[in-house]
Amino acid sequence: MWAVTTVSSLGDWLGVFALTLFVQRLSGRPEFAVGGVLLFRVLPGLFFGPFAGVLADRFDRRRLMVSADLCRAALIASIPWIHNLWALFAVSAVMEVLSLLWAPAKDATLPNLVGRDQLMTANQLSLITTYGTFPISGALVAGLAAPAALLGRIDAFSVLREQPVSLAFFVDAATFLFSAAMVATFPIRLTKTPRAPVPFNAVQGLRDLAEGLHFVRGHPVVRGLVVGAWTAFTGGGAVISLGPIFARRVSGGGPATAQAAWGGLIVAVGFGLVAGMVTAGLVARRLPRERIFPAGLMLSGAAVVGTASMTSMPPATAFTILVGLGAGLAWVTIYTLLQERTDERLRGRTFATLYTGIQLSLFLSLAGWPLIAGAIGDHSARAGSWRIDLSGVRIALWGGGILLVAAGIVTGRGAQVRLRGRAARLRGLQLRPSLGGGARRGLFVVFEGVEGAGKSTQVKMLHDALSACGRDVVVTREPGGVPISERVRGVLLDPAAREMDPKTEALLYAASRAQHVAELIRPALERGAVVICDRYIDSSLAYQGHARALGEDDVLRLNVWATDELLPDIALLLHLDPAAGLARTKGDPDRIEQEDLAFHKKVGEAFLSLARSYPSRFAVLDASQPPEMVHAQAMAAILPFDRG
Ligand code: TYD
Repeated sequence: MWAVTTVSSLGDWLGVFALTLFVQRLSGRPEFAVGGVLLFRVLPGLFFGPFAGVLADRFDRRRLMVSADLCRAALIASIPWIHNLWALFAVSAVMEVLSLLWAPAKDATLPNLVGRDQLMTANQLSLITTYGTFPISGALVAGLAAPAALLGRIDAFSVLREQPVSLAFFVDAATFLFSAAMVATFPIRLTKTPRAPVPFNAVQGLRDLAEGLHFVRGHPVVRGLVVGAWTAFTGGGAVISLGPIFARRVSGGGPATAQAAWGGLIVAVGFGLVAGMVTAGLVARRLPRERIFPAGLMLSGAAVVGTASMTSMPPATAFTILVGLGAGLAWVTIYTLLQERTDERLRGRTFATLYTGIQLSLFLSLAGWPLIAGAIGDHSARAGSWRIDLSGVRIALWGGGILLVAAGIVTGRGAQVRLRGRAARLRGLQLRPSLGGGARRGLFVVFEGVEGAGKSTQVKMLHDALSACGRDVVVTREPGGVPISERVRGVLLDPAAREMDPKTEALLYAASRAQHVAELIRPALERGAVVICDRYIDSSLAYQGHARALGEDDVLRLNVWATDELLPDIALLLHLDPAAGLARTKGDPDRIEQEDLAFHKKVGEAFLSLARSYPSRFAVLDASQPPEMVHAQAMAAILPFDRG
C-alpha cells in the first residue's frame, strides 16, 4: 500500500505540474489557464466529495480503487491530443472526481491492513510520501524534457515533438496502471465487513450520506477532529495565499528576489512538515495522541504569528519551519485518531467529509485572505523611535495564526474533557459503594495476572482464610461461573476457533460477564457475601483492549455497559514474567494460551500500566514469591476495603 501511495502521489503531482505547463502553452493568458486548472480541481470536491465517501463505504473498495486508477490512466494519457481549454478543464475536474473516489477508499482501508499499534507509523509513511513526492515530481517534469526530445524523433511519438511535456502525462498514466495492478493483486481483503445486499440507488445513497454526516456530528471526538482540521486549513490557507505578497514586502527586492524568498519559505514549510511527520511517532510514545494534535496546531499558529512579525527573511524563514513542524505533527495524529475512532463501516464517509470541508476551507481562504488584507489596507504605528509596519498582509497573517491557535485550544479542550472524563468516571465508580442499582454490602475481590501467575492457588487460599472467619464467601471465575457463561467459555477457549475476530472475542467475554454478574455476582454482593473472582474486566482491558489492540476505551465502555457498572472493590494483580508464567501452565494450551510470547508480554505490560493508571483500584503483588507470602500480602491489601 505504501508503494501504491508513493507512486500514485508522484503521478498526481506530476499530472498537476504537467497540466499547468500544458495549458499555459495552449492559452494566451497563462494566469487564467493555471487558475482554471486549479479551480476545476477544487470545485468537484465540493459537490462530489461527500458522495465519494458513500461509494467507498458501500462498494468493494478494491474494485473502486482499481476502476478509478484505470480511468485516470486513460484520461491522462489522452491529454496530449486535447487542444481545447475547456475540455482540459473538464478532464481536470473528472480526474479530481476519480481521485476523490480513490482517496477515502484508501484511507478507510489502511486500518484493515495494519494492526492498531502500527497505524501511526503507517500514516507517517503514507503522508510523508504523499507530500514528499511534490518536489521530486517538480524535478521530474523538468528532467523528462530530454528523453521527450529524444523519443520525439521517432515517428510514433511525434506528439512529443510538438508537446514535450506529454511524456509526463504518459509517465503519470503508467503510475496509475502500476497502482491498479498492485491493488488488484493485494493478497488480503480490503473491505472487512460484508456489505448488506441492499439495492443501491439514489435514495439509499442520500440515506448513507445522512448517516455519515450524523455520525460525524454526533461523535464529539470525531467532530472535534474534523472541525479542528477545517479551521486549521482555513488558518493555514492564509500562509499559502498571502505568502508570496509577504515575501515580496519583506525581502524588499525585485521580482526575482521575491520569488526566491517565497521559494525559501515553501522549502522551509515543507522541511518542517516532513520533520513533524517523522517525529510524530516518537512524540506519540510519550504523549497521548489527543494532546499532540492540539499542541501541533497551537505551535503552528504561534509560528505563523511569529513569521508575520518578522521584518527580514532569515528569521521569518526559520519560523516557517516551525509552522510546518506543528502542522506535520497535527496532520499525522488527526489521521490516526480518525481511523481509530471511526467504525470501519463509516470510515470512507468520515474521511470524505474531512476532505470536502478542507477543500472548502482552502477555497474560501485562498480567495478570502487576500481580500481581507486588501480591505484592512496598509497602516503603521509609532512607538518612540520605532515605526511598526502594520500592513494588511501582516495583520491578516496574524489573523490566520490566531485562528490556528484557536483551533488547537478548542479541540484540545474537547480532548481533555474526554481524558478527564474517563479517569473521573473510573474513580467515581470505585468510590460509590452502592453502584449499579441495589445496595452493595459485600466485598468484591478480583485476581488478575498473566497465564500461570498462580491465581487459582491464591483464590483458594483467600477463600479458606475468609471462610475460617465465618464469612459467606463465593468463589467464581471468568469466563464462566454460571452455566450459560461456561458455555460461552467453551467457545472462547476452543483451540479450533482460530478464526475468531478480536471484536467477537471481546463481545463474548463481555457477554459471559454480563450473565455472570446478573446471575451470580450481584445477588451475592447484595446479600453481603465476599465474592472472589478469578479474572474480571481488567483481563478484557489487558487481553482484548491492549494485546488485541481493540483499544482500552472501547473495551471498557462495552464492559461498563455489560455489567451495569459493577467494578471490583479491589483487583489483586499477581505480577510475574509472562515467560515464567507460561512455563508453569499445565495441560493442553487453550486458544489464548497458544498465542506467542510477544502477545503475553503485551498482556503483562498492559496489566502493569492499568495498575499505574488506577492505583486505588489495584494492588500489585510479586507472584514470584512463595504462595504464603503472596497470600499474606493479598489479605493485607483487601483489609481497607472490607466492610464486614
Ligand atoms: P483461564 O483458563 O481461566 O486462564 P487462567 O488459567 O490464566 O486463569 O482462561 C481464561 C483465558 O481467557 C485466559 O487466557 C485469559 C483470557 N481472558 C481474556 O482474554 N479476556 C477476559 O476478559 C478474560 C476474563 C479472560
